[in-house]
Amino acid sequence: MSFVGAITEKAVAGFADSYGRAPDVVWSAPGRVNLIGEHTDYNEGLVLPFAISQRTVAAAARRPGDVITVRSAAFEGAVSARLADIAPGALAGWAAYPLGVAWALSQNPDLPAPGQEAGVELFIDSDVPVGSGLSSSAALEIAVAGALDDLWGLGASGNEVIDAGHRAENVVVGAPTGIMDQFAVLRGEEGCAVFLDCRTEVDEIVPLGLGPASLELILIDTGQRHANAAGGYADRRAACERAARLLGVPSLRYITVDKLARAGELLDEVTFRRARHVVTENARVEEAVAALRAGNPAAVGPLMTASHASMRDDFAITTTALDLAAETAVRAGALGARMTGGGFGGSVIALIPEGAYPAVGQSVRDAFAAAALSAPAIQPVTPSPGARREYPTVPLPPRPRPSRGAFQASSRSSSTSSAGRLARIMWLVSISR
Ligand code: GLA
Repeated sequence: MSFVGAITEKAVAGFADSYGRAPDVVWSAPGRVNLIGEHTDYNEGLVLPFAISQRTVAAAARRPGDVITVRSAAFEGAVSARLADIAPGALAGWAAYPLGVAWALSQNPDLPAPGQEAGVELFIDSDVPVGSGLSSSAALEIAVAGALDDLWGLGASGNEVIDAGHRAENVVVGAPTGIMDQFAVLRGEEGCAVFLDCRTEVDEIVPLGLGPASLELILIDTGQRHANAAGGYADRRAACERAARLLGVPSLRYITVDKLARAGELLDEVTFRRARHVVTENARVEEAVAALRAGNPAAVGPLMTASHASMRDDFAITTTALDLAAETAVRAGALGARMTGGGFGGSVIALIPEGAYPAVGQSVRDAFAAAALSAPAIQPVTPSPGARREYPTVPLPPRPRPSRGAFQASSRSSSTSSAGRLARIMWLVSISR
């Protein structure tokens, strides 16, 4: 076997070292950067992320019985569990993500049941940094979901793979995150962003057109780790849900900028600020997409800077280091810069003129040194392809789906149909019992 990419080679070698044979399938999935649209996804709002070149690779093979074993190049030892024993709250640590994905796929009644022969051995390797706000978790989930889908012959649709990653993270790991990362990681395309409406779950690939506009993107990792399972993320989500409840709407997506003045009369100061970030951020995403469609990516810059200010002043999820990175980048010539990801640490994305990378990078490094902050990691970042099967090139044939009358296989389009929605609600009800 020979593979594109050093990290894929490493994962295959790691699998062979661990299990003494070659994998049956190899899947990879990238990390992501969110260009704009932060903390809008769980408010049924708009997001505009793209996949990055760093990837997580899952090499996997069937084994007899129903035990799933996971190993990772980043952690010592193996974690094993019978599929039937995986449950919400039963797992901790990194293995909760891949085993959570196995659980989520096996719980979806639209898919064939993995049965008594669900045994799998998995090896993970990755060059997506953890805790940098680049969605290492979704990269891991989607790479594993692709591998299990093949090995179990599920024939899952893209939306079912996305759901499995999202449910593993929310239900098994316990991080109350939205759906943006899994979409970005699965659907990303070279040179493009994924414009996702989180209310309809319909996405559109939008070319960024950076080359023709002589622009590029750089990523400034502050080195401050962030975690979505930590309190700050859940607290912001709760504030948004409280705001929607008090305003009498299903989610903040139903509040538009012109309704903010009235919302201000009904909400306390802090709750209003949280809501205002989400409402204005949705508007900024719409403007950014309009600018990109018009072939004017430079116009996204000021929207990014406004987004950062909103996250700093209204949503209160930035840190001194993130603020310094974004402000310094703009002062040094960036067209715009903003924190990306869940917040409370992680990275800043900056849109810069082609060739400005050395100067902008040096200014940010100097500013960090002057503020006695540890040196940031700065690098160019390119919108890259989403998840893919690395091996074999021809997919294994899927098994037939269970026949469930009206609740038939959800495909990408059926997730927005009423049958698809109903199936999803029934599934959610059944697992919450
Ligand atoms: C994390 C979550 C996403 C999203 C962002 C904030 O990355 O996983 O669902 O909420 O934070 O935009």
